[in-house]
Amino acid sequence: MQIGHIPLANRLFVAPMAGVTDRPFRQLCKALGAGYAVSEMVTSRKDLWSSLKTSRRANHEGESGPIAVQIAGTEAQMMAEAALYNVDRGAQIIDINMGCPAKKVCNKWAGSALMQDEALAVEIAAAVVAACAPRNVPVTLKMRTGWCQQHKNAIALARQFENVGIQMLTVHGRTREQGYQGQAEYDTIAAVKAQVAIPVVANGDITSPEKARDVLAATGADAIMIGRAAQGRPWIFREVGHFLATGEHLAPPLVAELRRLLLDHLHDHYSLYGELTGVRSARKHIAWYLRALPGGEALRQHINTIEDCTTQWQAVAGYLDALAQQMDRLPAISDVDAEPEEPEEPEKQGRLPA
Ligand SMILES: Cc1cc2nc3c(=O)[nH]c(=O)nc-3n(C[C@H](O)[C@H](O)[C@H](O)COP(=O)(O)O)c2cc1C
Repeated sequence: MQIGHIPLANRLFVAPMAGVTDRPFRQLCKALGAGYAVSEMVTSRKDLWSSLKTSRRANHEGESGPIAVQIAGTEAQMMAEAALYNVDRGAQIIDINMGCPAKKVCNKWAGSALMQDEALAVEIAAAVVAACAPRNVPVTLKMRTGWCQQHKNAIALARQFENVGIQMLTVHGRTREQGYQGQAEYDTIAAVKAQVAIPVVANGDITSPEKARDVLAATGADAIMIGRAAQGRPWIFREVGHFLATGEHLAPPLVAELRRLLLDHLHDHYSLYGELTGVRSARKHIAWYLRALPGGEALRQHINTIEDCTTQWQAVAGYLDALAQQMDRLPAISDVDAEPEEPEEPEKQGRLPA
């Protein structure tokens, strides 16, 4: 599996998720078997580049390669400049967001909304490719199956994107109109794969090793991308990789391993975000790790009342020490537990459904 001239370790990818797939989480997923991870999106709006949020997202200190940055915007020249801004900060691959979230940039909807305006979508892709080509940086693109049920234009767009030099396409098997409702469908992804020669990545509702195998078979995709099922379960990549290679299931992680992974993750998280933001933004990760564990809900409620990183870290460590007295390994995840959740109120964060 390669993106342009850049080889990847395997075909199991972490989906970009704003507010989730920051550098510590991407590193963790890569250490646990993901072959590739794309950053949270960086806006094409120059006036926001110096904001703390954007500069954190554009900082790749210590990140193992290849470093891939997703950009979002609605204007071709601005997107080309955003691509180069990130290349100057270490990006080796640029990914264009036409999948999610549909963020408003300069009074226009970006992300998957761009699929409604094919000419603009292709103009953006061509401009970013032209900017990146002299730097030898491949450009990839992530989209949905289409705008709505009646306009599933991913197939028509895929050909045009390939023609202007996009080197890999990821398709989330839902339309923009669907948000996260219903099930992801894979027929359109298979049709995209059949139309283009560049690698195609299948995404949407992959929650288990069996589902990964089935989606690869149904779509003929070159790789799969996992988002929500990796929240609080970054070892899913190792589980999928082992199953695809052997047909056997790995045992769930030891509680001792979860303790090490989660406490190290929190440490890295606090280092990136600092005390005030760190303690709050870590809560969702802790809740995801513990959601299916005995006493996890009570701990989650307690964690929400804690306002400093040291006390939060100690509460998690104490809980896991007690859990290790009760069980050696985490319980196996049932399909019901693995069902991906709808993200909470994306509108609140100024976005349409991802
Ligand atoms: C919290 C959250 C944030 C997301 N942010 C982005 C993003 O910044 N860029 C993007 O292309 N997709 C984003 N997505 C969509 C995911 O990359 C992925 O396409 C979607 O979740 C479907 O995959 P899944 O079923 O494996 O979760 C986001 C999804 C979630 C849940």
